[in-house]
Amino acid sequence: MIDKSLLNHVLPLLVIAVATACGGTGSANTDLPMPEALGATLNGGAAPDGVTLESISEGRILFNARATCSACHGANGMGGQLAPNLADDVWLNSDGSYAGIIEVIETGVLEPKEYPGLMLPRGGLGLSDEEVSSLAAFIWSLGVRG
Ligand code: HEC
Repeated sequence: MIDKSLLNHVLPLLVIAVATACGGTGSANTDLPMPEALGATLNGGAAPDGVTLESISEGRILFNARATCSACHGANGMGGQLAPNLADDVWLNSDGSYAGIIEVIETGVLEPKEYPGLMLPRGGLGLSDEEVSSLAAFIWSLGVRG
């Protein structure tokens, strides 16, 4: 027999927790400012082929929401306990180039160098080539600073 008063107390809390989690992710998608240096790099044609404002925005949304990369790498790739910061200059599994980042997302990291997490190929979600490229464009863009 389930205690009704317990359900009455726990359910609303769960609803609030889920709503808060979603709200947090949503704001992470939109709150990141577009640095001036990135705009200049894109406009100046210095970005790798395939890196556009659209692919970066698409990648940012995937990263923080559907592809759940932020669960390990933190909101907008700023680092978490299970996985490294993707916005700094330290690269453990590639040279940090756009092509290198694509390769890491495609193959995953089954033997991490330093972190306790483990990354499945294509996020374990069967992400399409286009989604992988957008994610890589977003991560690449994190390294462009003014
Ligand atoms: C379950 C946790 C987890 C999830 C989810 C996850 N990663 Fe990772 N990621 C890791 C770990 C662990 C490493 C390797 C760290 C190490 O070598 O010590 C890594 C490494 C990386 C690297 C290479 C970093 C470097 O320093 O070379 C990239 C890029 C990356 N992840 C992108 C992503 C993307 C994009 C997603 C979403 C599709 C994602 N990750 C989802 C745990 C995760």
